[in-house]
Amino acid sequence: MPVQEALRIIDEDASGIDRAFRTDVLQGLSQDQKAIPARWFYDERGSELFEEITKLDEYYPTRAETEILKTNGAAFADAIGAGAAVVEFGSGSSAKTPLLLQAIDPAAYVPIDISGDFLRTSSQQLAAKFPAIPVCPVEADFTKKVTMPDAINGMPRLGFFPGSTIGNLVPRTAVDLLREMRETLCDGAGQSAKLLIGMDRVKDTAVLEQAYDDARGVTAAFNINLLHRINRELDGTFDVHDFAHRAIWNDDIARIEMHLEAQRDIAFSVCGSSFTMAKGETIHTENSHKYTRRSANALLLAGGWTPLRHWRDAQDRFMLILAEASPLRMAP
Ligand code: AVI
Repeated sequence: MPVQEALRIIDEDASGIDRAFRTDVLQGLSQDQKAIPARWFYDERGSELFEEITKLDEYYPTRAETEILKTNGAAFADAIGAGAAVVEFGSGSSAKTPLLLQAIDPAAYVPIDISGDFLRTSSQQLAAKFPAIPVCPVEADFTKKVTMPDAINGMPRLGFFPGSTIGNLVPRTAVDLLREMRETLCDGAGQSAKLLIGMDRVKDTAVLEQAYDDARGVTAAFNINLLHRINRELDGTFDVHDFAHRAIWNDDIARIEMHLEAQRDIAFSVCGSSFTMAKGETIHTENSHKYTRRSANALLLAGGWTPLRHWRDAQDRFMLILAEASPLRMAP
């Protein structure tokens, strides 16, 4: 399952409505700036559209991160060392995990995912590819501390969080997640732990806006699909033709924002609650934060991680950062 979808627990009421989805949508649409958390993009169609996005000419992050993994294998092995337990936050269905495992010769692989089915399938695939590496899947919500399997006791641990998913969280939530990851990996027992995390870099505004508003309209369809999902699952009455996809660079906060903009004055309802939007008003549907070396370091430090190394692709678009769990000691 996409990592973003894994950042939640499903809780349905008697009529099969996902309570958390209903609460988020009704609360979000009641705000002055209407907003719906980006994790709701990833129903089946949304996940397919996201897969398609990762292959678009304009959407560079997936290719750039894969290039970094392919071209720096020896340096990763050197900086991380052999014999680590690789703990992946989300289960590695992409091509990225095998590239890391090949490069660093780990002693074990521990994927954490909230979906048991997804976890089992992707674990079996990896175990078949790497028969010498024990695979120990853990079904859990990794936004909270997760107990590690006994099988990796005493092994140095490497957390792996690729894809710049961290960028979809506002800084406060991103810091919370980094701290929980530290708890999971260090286990309160002074266990040595590192984290390899993907972050997208600040760059030319036109490049960024095109990456989130591609010529074929796949990202627009991904954004609009949220309205289809609300119509289907929450008895929504949106006419999707009333909305236009917008991808806007917010320079103060260094993030791309995706919005759905009303093209005329409209009225609609969701789960029986009525709402209106004036022409030009938007529903804010996603943030994708971009980082400089310094802002990435500041975020990691706030989350209890000391940055050690930064690797970038040849065009300087994306970075993979290796950090180690900061010792909890007195600072001046
Ligand atoms: C999943 N996440 C890292 C993607 C991103 O780039 O922020 C989601 C996405 N939204 C639109 N295009 C891709």
